[in-house]
Amino acid sequence: MVLKGCIFDLDGVLVDTAKYHFLAWKRLADQLDIKFTEKDNERLKGVSRMDSLEIILELGNLSPDSRTKEKYATLKNQWYVDYISKMTPEEILPGSLEFIDELKKAGIKTAIGSASKNTPLILKRVGIEKLFDAIADGNIVHKAKPDPEVFLTAAQMLKVEPRFCVVFEDAIAGVQAALNAGMLCVGIGSPDVLAKAHCVVPGLKEMSLGKLVKIKI
Ligand code: BG6
Ligand code: MG
Repeated sequence: MVLKGCIFDLDGVLVDTAKYHFLAWKRLADQLDIKFTEKDNERLKGVSRMDSLEIILELGNLSPDSRTKEKYATLKNQWYVDYISKMTPEEILPGSLEFIDELKKAGIKTAIGSASKNTPLILKRVGIEKLFDAIADGNIVHKAKPDPEVFLTAAQMLKVEPRFCVVFEDAIAGVQAALNAGMLCVGIGSPDVLAKAHCVVPGLKEMSLGKLVKIKI
């Protein structure tokens, strides 16, 4: 494969924000008397804010009107923003910066492809807002993964054809979105969960350009 662009999901690939999402959703669930565990939180990975809320409300058998849902999502986001506002560069996941540096030196373009509307704040807090050639996030993309919109938008911003792009993803919906975009996909996490990815590694620490070009399609 000719490799010209690498697109990174943010949450769970470059930074571990799942714990902050959990704490904020848990606070809402507690207020609504809904039992919500870390295992339930796994189902929220890669899922948009409103879809995550739907999953939690379903756990509690609640179906409030849409204004109340908006209120809940806003509350959760305020709590989440409190957490991520305190993030530091130490929270960048191991190996990420080294790998991105290797790609840049090889002339490969890099982009973010994330569902999160909080992408700019997180990138700024951990000090990598200027690292990428393009940022496609929840503020400019409207169709949730597994729809390929976010990755196709990133590729378009990079001016690279989808078939020359690789996506790095930790969520099942994200892997499917990459495949739907016609891109190669490296799963970040467990092979049992991300079985559809072309290759799976535990983290970017275990990735290198040498390994990437050897992946069989
Ligand atoms: C994804 C996360 O990256 O962004 C999801 O994996 C999250 O858990 C989604 O719900 C939307 O994030 P935000 O920050 O816009 O609420
Ligand atoms: Mg993710």
